[in-house]
Amino acid sequence: MLVIKGLSKSYGGARPREVLRGIELDLAAGEYVAIMGESGVGKSTLLNLIAGLDVPDRGTVALHGVEMSALDDAERTLLRRERIGFVFQAFHLLPHLTVAQNVALPLSLNGVPSAQIAERVGAMLAAVGLASAAGAYPRELSGGELQRVAIARALVHRPLLLLADEPTGNVDPETAVQVLALLREQVKRESGAGILVTHSAAAAATADRILALTSEGLHPVTK
Ligand SMILES: Nc1ncnc2c1ncn2[C@@H]1O[C@H](COP(=O)(O)OP(=O)(O)O)[C@@H](O)[C@H]1O
Ligand SMILES: [Mg+2]
Repeated sequence: MLVIKGLSKSYGGARPREVLRGIELDLAAGEYVAIMGESGVGKSTLLNLIAGLDVPDRGTVALHGVEMSALDDAERTLLRRERIGFVFQAFHLLPHLTVAQNVALPLSLNGVPSAQIAERVGAMLAAVGLASAAGAYPRELSGGELQRVAIARALVHRPLLLLADEPTGNVDPETAVQVLALLREQVKRESGAGILVTHSAAAAATADRILALTSEGLHPVTK
């Protein structure tokens, strides 16, 4: 489903620093993994590479047998739009759009008819407990609410691959339980694959397996 081979990435000009080196990961259909690791170890970088938002120095990412590096920019954008749901650590909501419009974005960009968009967005907002905030703008919401909008937007088009970067970092423990259940449900329903990056052991325990990212690479952690 998702196959990552020898993925490496360095940052920095004159004295580049290797953030990721030789990362290997193989996710079967329906598999949901958590990745834990210290701040700065490269978790967000890894998700960006998998989503094709950043380009690796070496190595490959293949989703459903399609290799990211073999696609041009337009094809990569299309694949991401149709097949990937990304919950960004910093949310990346559009400030001039309402909550409902932000959540609708993956559907409208994919040409879904408007009646269907309204229905899916309504259901998604209800699922994250934000039905009453549909007409609000991001600046009117709390950090926890913004995070739930970002989650709704990442799930609304039922992506094959779900990438969630610290999706419960800003929500209260009760909401975290609901959000984590939603993320897991999505991966299982679509028989896709999901990666949950988290600092929380309780959150990681909702995944099928847990991996630790260190400067040595990705290693299994026993639950
Ligand atoms: N676009 C970038 N340019 C330069 N350095 C970066 C960039 N993105 C991340 N880094 C560096 O790469 C390292 C890993 O960052 P990141 O992937 O955000 O870590 P994590 O998500 O695990 O906290 C950090 O040292 C960070 O400063
Ligand atoms: Mg990060």
